[in-house]
Amino acid sequence: MRVPDLRSAARNGAVRLRAALGSIRTGWGATWAGLRRAVDRLAPQRRVDRYWTRTLVSHDSFATPRESEEQLEWRFGQYPLFREFSGLWGEHDGEVVLDYGCGPGNDVVGLLLYSGAARVIGMDVSPKALALAAERIALHGVDDRRFRLTQLTDADPTIPLEDESVDFFQSMGVLHHTTDPAAILRELHRVAKRSAEARIMVYNRESVWFHLFTACELQLWQGRYPNLTAAQAFERTTDGPACPIARCYRPEDFVALCEDAGFETEFLGGYHSESELNWLRDSRERAIADERLAAEHREFLSELELDQHGYPAWRGKHAGVGGSYRLRRR
Ligand SMILES: C[S@@+](CC[C@H](N)C(=O)[O-])C[C@H]1O[C@@H](n2cnc3c(N)ncnc32)[C@H](O)[C@@H]1O
Repeated sequence: MRVPDLRSAARNGAVRLRAALGSIRTGWGATWAGLRRAVDRLAPQRRVDRYWTRTLVSHDSFATPRESEEQLEWRFGQYPLFREFSGLWGEHDGEVVLDYGCGPGNDVVGLLLYSGAARVIGMDVSPKALALAAERIALHGVDDRRFRLTQLTDADPTIPLEDESVDFFQSMGVLHHTTDPAAILRELHRVAKRSAEARIMVYNRESVWFHLFTACELQLWQGRYPNLTAAQAFERTTDGPACPIARCYRPEDFVALCEDAGFETEFLGGYHSESELNWLRDSRERAIADERLAAEHREFLSELELDQHGYPAWRGKHAGVGGSYRLRRR
């Protein structure tokens, strides 16, 4: 009798201990979240830097150069049309190439290995991302003189480069997260050589992600974010609820922003995430038939046309979330 009693007392004790530890962990988690919110309120101009230092776009680290190269190929496969619309890796023989918001260095490495660039400059607000980029470049044994990594802050759009010193720049998935994209575009214009070219990706409002996933699946069917506009709900869901800024742009609005900064700009289309193609296949008809969904979203979904690969296009442009633009400095 005693042994089972002791066992059951121990079991009950363990359950209580686990519950107590759980509540302490929850308590600390809540405290940290509260602290972060307080710091963000006190120093809002650094909240973007803080978020992207906490939240890396990927934590991959690679044992061999081959693993690193395989990851680059794998990444193209995750996003149909990404390779085509981003123009990666391009031919940049002897050029100076800037990757603005390079994150942990996927494209810095790809450009160094495959584009023929003389020099690749990666810039980002996240010291952690830059450290990973440096590690990965070292794995490939790239000569130090061929690259430079620079830490920026979102609080100051200045780009620490000479006027007209860059032949080509790109910025993939960055400007929609920044406080002042117009000022950054003006800086990019200043550092770009005359007739330099560029590719930029920002989130595309005219996309399956926006009209089907955000407005219909999340807001209407799951009942989440009932009091937010679709654009506000989009901001909460693409990079997680703590991401301080995540805008989506109508192509004509982003083109106007780039033109104002002095670039001739063309919208190439939106590349897709695999999830968008799945949502479209599974839910498009149901969404169009659901009269509670606002007309704007139902019309968008009705107007989509599938190309020969089954990729949706709206008014002649692919309708993925990866809104891609080709720029030329005027
Ligand atoms: C979604 S990640 C994209 C990273 C990389 N371009 C890629 O395609 O893998 C967004 C990056 O933008 C950076 N970022 C955010 N605000 C920035 C700013 N104001 N200036 C430069 N980089 C910024 C973040 O640190 C993060 O690495």
